[in-house]
Amino acid sequence: MIFTVAIDGPAAAGKGTISRAVADRFGFPHLDTGLLYRAVAVKGGDPVEAAQHLTPEDLCRDDLRSLEAGQAASRVAAVPEVRAALVAFQRRFARSEGGAVLDGRDIGTVICPEAEVKLYVTASPEVRAHRRWLELGGDAARVLAEVRERDARDMGRADAPLRPAADAVLIDTSDLGIDEAVAAAVAIVAARLSGT
Ligand code: CDP
Repeated sequence: MIFTVAIDGPAAAGKGTISRAVADRFGFPHLDTGLLYRAVAVKGGDPVEAAQHLTPEDLCRDDLRSLEAGQAASRVAAVPEVRAALVAFQRRFARSEGGAVLDGRDIGTVICPEAEVKLYVTASPEVRAHRRWLELGGDAARVLAEVRERDARDMGRADAPLRPAADAVLIDTSDLGIDEAVAAAVAIVAARLSGT
């Protein structure tokens, strides 16, 4: 069975948690595509070459989740040649036999516009910054400023900007607990799988 669940949205909206839960629930492999851009940024050197020669080890580094790596990722992610180098791998993953969950910024719009389920997971910048601060600590005002800066860069870039696909279902997690957000996503996927 080919069945793609595309989960897009801004930083710290809950995409990762929802994606992992949906993947677990339905037994689909999961790809966190943000990690690809983080790994390209952290590898250093020419980002286009880094994207063309990314290895599984690059994706296992333990410094990929920092605020700095996130900011650097959103800078290299605006380079069209970097994005182009990562498209084929993501498409193959998305359309592999056995289903797939991918989360990122452009999965439903660019990587897999034919995805069977498209979710756009969002929350207010304040709520997202607070979550990121709980996760990583640091100065709360700086975390909020970085969230806003990254939103602006991801939404404003010319190539594959962050935006909901026309047929995406919106899940606003500002006032939802993790369990409620996961339940909403699981219900949408289950309905599509059963053809209702
Ligand atoms: O985890 P968080 O939502 O903070 O970020 P991420 O998903 O790891 O993505 C890091 C950065 O990579 C984003 O700010 C985007 O600029 C970029 N990215 C992208 O352009 N396209 C994707 N499909 C995934 C991430």
